[in-house]
Amino acid sequence: RPRDPGAATGRDTRVVAHRGASDEHPEHTLAAYEQAIADGADALECDVRLTRDARLVCVHDRRVNRTSDGRGAVSALTLDELDRLDFGSWKGGGAEPARVLAFDELLNLATSAPRPVELAVETKHPTRWAGRVEHELVRQLRLFGLHRPKPGEPPRVRLMSFSRLALRRLRALAPELPLVHLTERPPLPGRPPALPTGVRIAGPGIDLVRARPDLVPRLRAAGHQVHVWTVDEPEDVELCLRLGVHTLITNRPRQVLEQIGDR
Ligand code: G3P
Ligand code: CA
Repeated sequence: RPRDPGAATGRDTRVVAHRGASDEHPEHTLAAYEQAIADGADALECDVRLTRDARLVCVHDRRVNRTSDGRGAVSALTLDELDRLDFGSWKGGGAEPARVLAFDELLNLATSAPRPVELAVETKHPTRWAGRVEHELVRQLRLFGLHRPKPGEPPRVRLMSFSRLALRRLRALAPELPLVHLTERPPLPGRPPALPTGVRIAGPGIDLVRARPDLVPRLRAAGHQVHVWTVDEPEDVELCLRLGVHTLITNRPRQVLEQIGDR
């Protein structure tokens, strides 16, 4: 398989830390992302949501209940209110208390890391905010000079969504950034797997890849890159390597990197 031209290492397979090194640390916290960088992850995955005062924060769920000591929807709380919550201790196992991570803090971390680290950013619930999430995301990226690749360099950022609407908006706002269409659904019977216009990277879930082992070869044959989530188990890593998956998105970047070696 030809090497990914963006690969900064000798490896063919790229490893993305899903919500940071989130098996070991509370997801989406500074500690989780610092660990992922120390572990050697090629990229950091994060979900972004808008607060009530229109700030982007790295939180997966609609509500803060599961991952903090607070309650309520992210969209109903201001960044100041979120800042007073503990997003660390829920994890147990000696996890330290942690602040919510604002998206610009993640951008700061990624751009000041001792080695190049990429970002894979997912937008959630695009219809609710009528495009404001996508606008704010690209505005923040622009402030860091990340809204398009630097001349002669591979893109540092890719944008992901389950929503075709969000991908259309992102394509219009940042036409030079690669897009990933996330999906859990198999293609219709007898139809080739179709990606939205302008999207070259397919992001199937590991359950779908396991259930439909023909999917990855078909996507590759159609010229698409394939980024699979969330690949934590050694047998799933092996399956993805066998199928020629380009990028593994995992909660356990260190273990996956150890398993794949220089493959
Ligand atoms: O990286 C894609 C994956 O994160 C999508 O699912 O629910 O973990 O955001 P979810
Ligand atoms: Ca995600």
